[in-house]
Amino acid sequence: MSELLQKLQWRYATKKMEPSQAVSAEKLEHILEAVRLTASSSGLQPYEVIVVTNPEIREQIKPHAWNQGQITDCSHLLVFAAWDNYTAERINMMFDLVNEERGFKNEGWENYRQMLLNTYPQRDAETNYQHAARQAYIGLGSALIAAAYEGVDSTPMEGFDPAKVDEILKLRERGLRSVILLPLGYRAAEGDWLVNLKKVRRAKNQFVSEVK
Ligand SMILES: Cc1cc2nc3c(=O)[nH]c(=O)nc-3n(C[C@H](O)[C@H](O)[C@H](O)COP(=O)(O)O)c2cc1C
Repeated sequence: MSELLQKLQWRYATKKMEPSQAVSAEKLEHILEAVRLTASSSGLQPYEVIVVTNPEIREQIKPHAWNQGQITDCSHLLVFAAWDNYTAERINMMFDLVNEERGFKNEGWENYRQMLLNTYPQRDAETNYQHAARQAYIGLGSALIAAAYEGVDSTPMEGFDPAKVDEILKLRERGLRSVILLPLGYRAAEGDWLVNLKKVRRAKNQFVSEVK
């Protein structure tokens, strides 16, 4: 088995974390960088990651996240927050950045910009948010793999009230909406009902099919 697959076997949605153990700044940086380098539709990166370490804020979030203990027992709580809409300003910001970083303008790229400008801002905000949230999930996938690679435990969480988290973190004011939470930390030595259970996945032949 490849080294990466071994690490993916090792990872699981950790149910109990050890509050005294913190993820190092270096490992955190590697995980965040993996998310930043993740592919996104048209390269718009229409989401941000908020790293919550503040204990009081995490205590405030916990009751709105099914009282899941990892929220306060992790060392870093990542909040994936998607753009609430695609605006011309946001689209131009990314296209201008690409031009600036690459140092030239490309006609095909500029035509593509116009195509997006003529399409996305005209759609309703909810449709655009849903599209942006899907990109955030791709980032979540990268974070899960990167955390496992670094030997860091994590728990992807949809079990929370996004409206409350938005309020606590004042995300709507920033044009963001929380999509998913990812506590990072280390599995507790005791008290995790899932840690020793077999990882269960459908057999490959029920999951992958070929068209030859
Ligand atoms: C999008 C998403 C949301 C999830 N939400 C929760 C959650 O709120 N709480 C939790 O304990 N696990 C949550 N999980 C974990 C899944 O139950 C878990 O990944 C799945 O059962 C597979 O097990 P494994 O990750 O341990 O291999 C979530 C997973 C994903 C991908």
